[in-house]
Amino acid sequence: MKELRHVAVLDFGSQYTQLIVRRVRELGYYAKLYAPEELGKIGEPGAIILSGGPKSTSEEDAPDIDFERLKEFQVPVLGVCYGMQLLNIKFGGSVEASTKREYGPAALKPICGNDLYEGVSNESQVWMSHSDTVRDLHPEAEVIATNQHGTPVSLRWPGGFYGIQFHPEVTHSHEGMRILNNFLLQADTLQEFHIEDFKRELIEGIKGEVGDKQVVCGVSGGVDSTVLAVLLNEAGVNVRAIFVDNGLLRKDEAIAVQNNFHRMGVEIETVDASEIFLDALAGKEDPEEKRKIIGNLFIDVFWTAVGDAEILAQGTLYPDVIESASNEKSKASVIKTHHNRVPKILELQEQGKVLEPLAELFKDEVRELGAALGIAPDILGRHPFPGPGLAVRCPGAVDRERLDIIRECDAIFIGKLKEHGWYDRVWQAYAGLIPVKTVGVKGDERSYEWATNLRAVISEDAMTAEWVELPGQLLREASQDILNQVKGINRVLYDISTKPPASIEWE
Ligand code: XMP
Repeated sequence: MKELRHVAVLDFGSQYTQLIVRRVRELGYYAKLYAPEELGKIGEPGAIILSGGPKSTSEEDAPDIDFERLKEFQVPVLGVCYGMQLLNIKFGGSVEASTKREYGPAALKPICGNDLYEGVSNESQVWMSHSDTVRDLHPEAEVIATNQHGTPVSLRWPGGFYGIQFHPEVTHSHEGMRILNNFLLQADTLQEFHIEDFKRELIEGIKGEVGDKQVVCGVSGGVDSTVLAVLLNEAGVNVRAIFVDNGLLRKDEAIAVQNNFHRMGVEIETVDASEIFLDALAGKEDPEEKRKIIGNLFIDVFWTAVGDAEILAQGTLYPDVIESASNEKSKASVIKTHHNRVPKILELQEQGKVLEPLAELFKDEVRELGAALGIAPDILGRHPFPGPGLAVRCPGAVDRERLDIIRECDAIFIGKLKEHGWYDRVWQAYAGLIPVKTVGVKGDERSYEWATNLRAVISEDAMTAEWVELPGQLLREASQDILNQVKGINRVLYDISTKPPASIEWE
């Protein structure tokens, strides 16, 4: 991607930094994240944003910025939270450290007639998360907004420098997008972000990087790996797409995945490893042990199928690459522990054999890219499905009988969601098994069978989730069909737990 007149976001370690990048793209401009010490690498940006960070500017190892170099760009600069404190110090002001952190909503009161708050209400809710506050100001620094107590929370310095104490990138800052947009309007011209251009550049990049080498990628039927495989195919790369059937898939899923790829013109190699997985899982009840078995076996089976890879392509997304690490100066270089970062892959990465073309994108952008690649909406709209599959939807041991019961219940529930037009309105839904027997009556006989738990949630990032108030009629029909058709189930429960404290899966 060429980096002319883009928005460079310098990462001082805040948990919200990647959201800034996302918000800028939502406003239609191309944004990219850099470590503060990477100023020399950012080319010719059109605007620069200094993110927040977990440190206090007074700490010895607090991240710093080459201020002289920053000024040389002669473009608008916005310091957010830590970024604002740092700018205030660089401009000769001072910052008061506090041991208490202000965290939560505050009122923003813009001072009339300034460009950053054009069109923003007189009093607007913003989200604070900081411990330092500005104390002395440079004589030319101007206070452009205060909080409800009259404390300065936004500053402007000569030369197009702005500071805001709050986080405009989080939705709790009600007019944050407008403020961010007002800042970006200060830039002369900015490179626009269009997914079509991005797609073309990705394809060119892949062609250049791969040439005629063979590329291997794992596919699961999920959105990320599907988009990746189609993208590689579109780039005319010699690609092998490998799909491991671990025996923990939903009803008819292996066939559906094969058909979907066939529809998209990408041939996949299916490795049926269900026996191996189910044998290894027999009698294992501990959730972590189940996860470990599945994770390790996946690696073995996948790498056996791969053989000798010239290049391994992965559908790693932006949030997978960046992880907050409060003891690190820069987040951008820190990789969270993730299945895309097991030792074997790190080794290949060292040898330059790993290709991750989606690493700059967020999930919804991947969907957009998928649409630009012509992938059908039903494939792009599939609910997320966990790598360990149905094993995390069956507390205790998994075996074929239990898995088959889950498959039947799940197919009925998902079918009802689709029939009633609710599938696309929920973020994720499934039926699981509660392997506890209770008494019931079936026909004239007493039954002693298991229960199924239906779960439907809305979520943005899976970190938190709300249960969905599905229509009673939908639940009634799902329950009736399950009780009538699924042998082994005499009770249907609907899970009304939020996350936290519950999780989405039962494990
Ligand atoms: P929990 O149960 O932690 O799940 O609330 C959050 C989201 O993550 C999915 N999930 C996984 N996805 N590999 C995945 O790719 C996994 O090991 C895994 N475990 C949970 C889960 O389905 C939900 O969407």
